[in-house]
Amino acid sequence: MTSKPYLTGHYTPVADEISATGLRTEGTLPPELTGRLIRNSHNPKPGVTPAHWFKGSGMVHGIRLRDGRAEWYRNRWVRTPALDGAPYMTDDGPDMTASTAGTHVIEHAGRLLALCEANFPFELTPDLDTVGVHDFGGKLRSAMTAHPKTDPVTGELHFFGSSPFPPFLIHHVADAEGEIVHSAEVPGATASLKHDFALTRHHVVFIEGTVTFDPTEHSGIPYGWNDDQPARIGVMPRGPRGAERIRWFSIEPGNMLHAANAYEDDQGRIVLEGPTVDREGFQLSWNWWVGAPGRGTEPNTRSFTRRWIIDLAQGSVDEQIIDDLAVEFPTLNEDFLGTEHRYQYAVSFPDQDGYGGYGIVKYDRTTGARRIHQVGDARLPSEAVFVPAAGATREDDGYLLTVTSDLKQDASALLVLDASGLDRIATVHLPRRVTAGIHGSWIPDTALDRN
Ligand SMILES: [Fe+2]
Repeated sequence: MTSKPYLTGHYTPVADEISATGLRTEGTLPPELTGRLIRNSHNPKPGVTPAHWFKGSGMVHGIRLRDGRAEWYRNRWVRTPALDGAPYMTDDGPDMTASTAGTHVIEHAGRLLALCEANFPFELTPDLDTVGVHDFGGKLRSAMTAHPKTDPVTGELHFFGSSPFPPFLIHHVADAEGEIVHSAEVPGATASLKHDFALTRHHVVFIEGTVTFDPTEHSGIPYGWNDDQPARIGVMPRGPRGAERIRWFSIEPGNMLHAANAYEDDQGRIVLEGPTVDREGFQLSWNWWVGAPGRGTEPNTRSFTRRWIIDLAQGSVDEQIIDDLAVEFPTLNEDFLGTEHRYQYAVSFPDQDGYGGYGIVKYDRTTGARRIHQVGDARLPSEAVFVPAAGATREDDGYLLTVTSDLKQDASALLVLDASGLDRIATVHLPRRVTAGIHGSWIPDTALDRN
């Protein structure tokens, strides 16, 4: 019996792979939701106790919706060498194929990719079987972030590879057909931990927080808070020579896991938002991630949304915490990625004082209104994935899809919320409790038809 928090409660791994059809559904599933919700999770095999949550092997859970019906659920481990015990570090350096592939799953150019930021991606079939490592035909020679960004206008995929050793940061662009067409080392980057970044119409925005390479950390993820590591934002013009013109701006100490969005405002300033933690908040998270004894039960209790406004002409940065609710896993209508968005979604968590609770939050950035859909006692929702309605005319005309873990009933469900008012319009009951986990994507059939 383990006491690791990431192997107990909502995070208890499932022990096997199953397939089920004809899922029981309450409410009305919109027929236009025809595709798959695929969500990744860290789910080590039975008997395996990783020293860090993020070292747990990836398992994808898929829910197939079509024409108003929930056709199937299935879960599959991502079959990588790491699943069979291959070490990441070898005598020849890191094995980029020894991936947990347990952080995210995305679609680009009709290809499904399971991601972990220290490795190459792994391609999956629409039925969640593992095809194998995908290195873009040999053009990818760095790791690949688990948070690539698809430009909604060009269809390009921007991503980076980061490393605690030089070169610390490489920016890549794959075109809409999935071919890498640009790779460039980013000058001035350091070993600071980079989990996510942001993309605007004209810039790539990198974030270096106060967490950096720590060779004394032996959990398998060699990073830690270091007051000597400057926190900075790097603003790099897009385009072939952009890296030469990157500018780094000092910011307050902190660590941001996920960028909510970034854009150029009407004055040409860069606006970036995302949940951040201070030193104590990071330590709370880290203690949970490594299962340090006697620590809190929730890693996001001090995660608050911050906004940076970077004035490129003045060379200045204005930053502030903009909300008092503990949140993580920010999402948006990705048609607005890189431009000024009105609506922001996130998962809310109880803070250290018990304020707030598990729910799906919607922010209206124009009015300042905040609405929360509480998911109920002993239930933990996963990241709320926004899916636009067919023929949508408003930014929030669409649906939020989230998978809950319910400890009381030992069950899970896919909730379909109306993104406008956060009302629940359908519940798909899954045949088992799904491990609470990290990121996922809605993959419409139209995205897969191209192959
Ligand atoms: Fe992430």
